[in-house]
Amino acid sequence: MECLLQKTKITMLSNCLILLMVGQAFSIPKTEEVTWYPTYHLAPHKGWINDPNGLIYHNGYYHAFFQHNPENIPEGTKHWGHARSHDMLNWEYLPIALSPSLEDDIDGIFSGSAVNLNGKLTLIYTGVSDNLNKQRQMVAISSDGVNFEKKGVVITKEGDESYFRDPKAWFQNGSWWVVIGSQTTDKLGEVLLYSSKDFFNWTYQGVLAGGNGSLGYMWECPDFFTINGKQILVISPQGLEQDGFNYQNLYQTGYFVGNWQPEQNYTIEKGFREIDHGHDFYASQSFLAPDGRRIQISWLDMWESVFAENVTGWSGMFTIPREISLNEFGDLVSKPIREIIGKRTPNTDIFDTIISSNQMLTLKNNVFSSEILIEFNLLNSSCKAIQLSLKEEPTRDEGVVLYVDIELSRLFMERYYPKYGIDKTNRSVAIDLSLSKLSLDIFVDSSSIEVFVNDGIAVMSSRIYPNNNQRKFSVAPVDGFVNVSLTSYDINVNNQ
Ligand code: FRU
Repeated sequence: MECLLQKTKITMLSNCLILLMVGQAFSIPKTEEVTWYPTYHLAPHKGWINDPNGLIYHNGYYHAFFQHNPENIPEGTKHWGHARSHDMLNWEYLPIALSPSLEDDIDGIFSGSAVNLNGKLTLIYTGVSDNLNKQRQMVAISSDGVNFEKKGVVITKEGDESYFRDPKAWFQNGSWWVVIGSQTTDKLGEVLLYSSKDFFNWTYQGVLAGGNGSLGYMWECPDFFTINGKQILVISPQGLEQDGFNYQNLYQTGYFVGNWQPEQNYTIEKGFREIDHGHDFYASQSFLAPDGRRIQISWLDMWESVFAENVTGWSGMFTIPREISLNEFGDLVSKPIREIIGKRTPNTDIFDTIISSNQMLTLKNNVFSSEILIEFNLLNSSCKAIQLSLKEEPTRDEGVVLYVDIELSRLFMERYYPKYGIDKTNRSVAIDLSLSKLSLDIFVDSSSIEVFVNDGIAVMSSRIYPNNNQRKFSVAPVDGFVNVSLTSYDINVNNQ
């Protein structure tokens, strides 16, 4: 709880001070024009968001709720914001669904999930009180999918209640089940399992999984689901130390692959691995689309980082919803939802072209709301690396660089926006170059970049803060030539 507690104290003492500090430290230079509000990602028009909550398809709509502070204060009291959509790209923003009002949720409505209970959109969430030290699971039900009636506390934890949050519920074998993030008395992260016949009376079923000391002090936002007969446990642990190229962000989100069925222990076959390797990815939640696809959405941000958009009245956004699957090796594969294909218009097509060592390919139009799909034919290339940049000029320092290091077999993403206090840092992921082709499917929205490598075997997601001039996209080989095919698309979605 240290972290959350620390955050709250600061908030309670000095909300105004924080706002002032953020404004002063990272104001946008008067000479610059910036376009940062996304066109095809979910983000609040006003206020703060963090975790995706209550993702569900219900009565003809995709619903996304989100951790929300209407005052745009990162650590301010949490509500559940609400949006719905027919395609998960164009969102209609609805009134706040849940606000603190009861003794048990008076300090905030923390994360949770949604189910269809007897035809009604039903939420299970963590109500927090006692300066965040009491965390209890509570239920709210809606008849119209917009207004919710609170039903009060349904699950409590004996003893220390300060690390007990983020219920994710599902129905299986005639019962309701829920996993909840928690902490052992030895201060290790764990996930607890409960079951119920009616969604109101719950029985503790034990620890589904727990850390052994190397996986942090708290597991937030558990998600548990089946793909290809395997049970995937997703957690967002706090307290992991950086380990080489791994765990470079403040907190991580990753997954285990194993086997479970009701009344049996969860046996893990493949240990914790990060889902995304960019700077900003946290608190994933998944749900089933009506056609059976498992869709995962995450917060495309990280706690305690710079939210440069804060000065324009909103902060935080979600990732593109991703269709997730397991490949034959038990690795999670993430692809942007196919709905996006219907929203794009091609504007550049380059086929099977050599860029020689002293050349550079630059897209004519600035990149604001785009997909750039690039394929490198490595059998017909001699370079040691390939550099892709989104900058005002490729030679300038400020901006984003993707660097394919062929000798190291790694893709690096470096970003640098010193004006807003964003230092030069990189993240990276191993890439398989034994294949003859390397494909990068790059989605840029106004202040985000998401790179899907080789059809989603690896993904890197980061927030970026280019001004309107820093949006030239270039590709250049390093030490040799490269064979490239590229299609770039404009993505046309207007969030309401
Ligand atoms: C994860 C988290 C959750 C909590 C929520 C509070 O980002 O810390 O554990 O429910 O955010 O906003």
